[in-house]
Amino acid sequence: MEKILEEVLNSNRKYTNYGQVAGYIPELKKAKRDDLGICVIDKDNNIYKAGNWDTKFTIQSVSKIVVLAMALMDNDWQYVFSKVGKEPSGDPFNSIMKLETNDTKKPSNPMINAGAIVTTSLIKGASLEEKEERMLKFFRKLAKNDNLGINYDVYKSEKMTGDRNRAMAYLLRNDGFIQGDVEELLDLYFKQCSIEVDTLDLARIGVNLASYGVDIETGERIIDEKVSRIVKTFMVTCGMYDASGEFAIKVGIPAKSGVGGGILASVPNTMGIGVYGPALDKKGNSIAGIKILEELSQKLELNIF
Ligand code: DON
Repeated sequence: MEKILEEVLNSNRKYTNYGQVAGYIPELKKAKRDDLGICVIDKDNNIYKAGNWDTKFTIQSVSKIVVLAMALMDNDWQYVFSKVGKEPSGDPFNSIMKLETNDTKKPSNPMINAGAIVTTSLIKGASLEEKEERMLKFFRKLAKNDNLGINYDVYKSEKMTGDRNRAMAYLLRNDGFIQGDVEELLDLYFKQCSIEVDTLDLARIGVNLASYGVDIETGERIIDEKVSRIVKTFMVTCGMYDASGEFAIKVGIPAKSGVGGGILASVPNTMGIGVYGPALDKKGNSIAGIKILEELSQKLELNIF
């Protein structure tokens, strides 16, 4: 298997020359565009790695699936979906437009930034500190990595420049989808996006989702089974934003991307995959990462459809 991963990495290395490393969060510009890594964990807990599998990057939007799982376990689902929708938006991840034009003004889904800010607001905790602590604990448990932490340079960089998210959050509060202090909420959202991971961490979270929320080593249930299904469904319909349809056709695996360059993929009953390649297409998805997943899906027959 590791030989296959090496091959797939090498045959797609050329794609690291295309696209751009994210620049709208200044600190992310420091990523090395030709880094490329992958990690696969199968349901028997075999771990396979290749390339820059252990290079650290920030989780960014991949965090939205973990926080969605948490929000759905912390709250009544009906309440959650009264605040955030279930439909693909067909718009870019940071689009603000439908917060005005949607009938209800409700954010379309929990994968776009507006919807993710809502799910972050639904995390339970008596204080900001408690929410942050609960969140980090949940990420660490899913990734089976007690060392997961926040990259404070990236966090501060986004906090300084995240006015688009700020604008959306104020609109969301105006329309009753979030409550309380907007800056505090954004603090938590920016921190969740700035959690530093490698492809092994993503593959671990992916294999947990592939196993319907059960830790494959210990048998402990970490995510409610039905919640794990909802999360994977959102990954298929909205995980790659306005490229989700094409990705579903070409790759056919539930996946979530982040502007840090990571993609987490989860093949039900089979494996979790983490890929890293920081050069992105215009939709904010890793170009080489998508190509690698496409080839791997064909080679290993992973298409779920
Ligand atoms: O809120 C933002 O814009 C970033 N922290 C996360 C966006 C992101 O990763 C979109 N994914 N491809």
